[in-house]
Amino acid sequence: MEIFLDSANEIELISIKNFPFISGVTTNPSLISKEKAKVEKLIDVVKESNLKIFIQTLKETKEEIYKEGVSYFSLYPDGVVLKIPFSPEGLKVVPLFKKDNIPTAITSIFSLSQIIVSLPLHPDYVIPYIDRIGRYGGDGVKLVREAKEIIIKEKVSTKILSASFRSVKQVEEVMVAGSNAITIPMKVLKDIMSNPLSEKAIKDFKTDWLSMNEKGHS
Ligand code: E4P
Repeated sequence: MEIFLDSANEIELISIKNFPFISGVTTNPSLISKEKAKVEKLIDVVKESNLKIFIQTLKETKEEIYKEGVSYFSLYPDGVVLKIPFSPEGLKVVPLFKKDNIPTAITSIFSLSQIIVSLPLHPDYVIPYIDRIGRYGGDGVKLVREAKEIIIKEKVSTKILSASFRSVKQVEEVMVAGSNAITIPMKVLKDIMSNPLSEKAIKDFKTDWLSMNEKGHS
């Protein structure tokens, strides 16, 4: 099981060392553009923690995607995973990366059939967009459950890395449905980490303990 942070914010990337359960970071061109970040800089930051970083290719032809992917991978061969958007050209390049032992994730997945045609190429991950699927009337959790059934039946090693989350409930539901991994934005991570009931329980334990000690000393 793997948990990633979905972000291209340098400060958030530095902060992942505070979360020992995080395996790395996923980025995409929109997140990078929003932060006006540089891919090379983000890779350097994640490299410091020896974790994985997913970088998405933007080119359109098989040859161009291959060249672009190899150049990202060469910056940090121990940690870069290439995100290849689902497209006819994108699918053609996955076997080339496979041959070079460059890990791949087929991203922008919105349907079960996209996963079905991706699996024979043995990408390391497929990335369904849970919240976006729901926004267009689909059921991302059902997609994950059914994809997992096929993966088990076909005995393929591709992992489901669910993405596009807006709530803790979505995270819980996809993990129950069989997702192998998730990538979550900082907002969702913070919502998981700061449960007011846990905070109250911890505060109460401390108060009770201190009051016993105070009584003992009187
Ligand atoms: C996945 O790797 C993407 O970065 C991301 O989760 C896309 O979804 P969103 O823009 O709906 O959050």
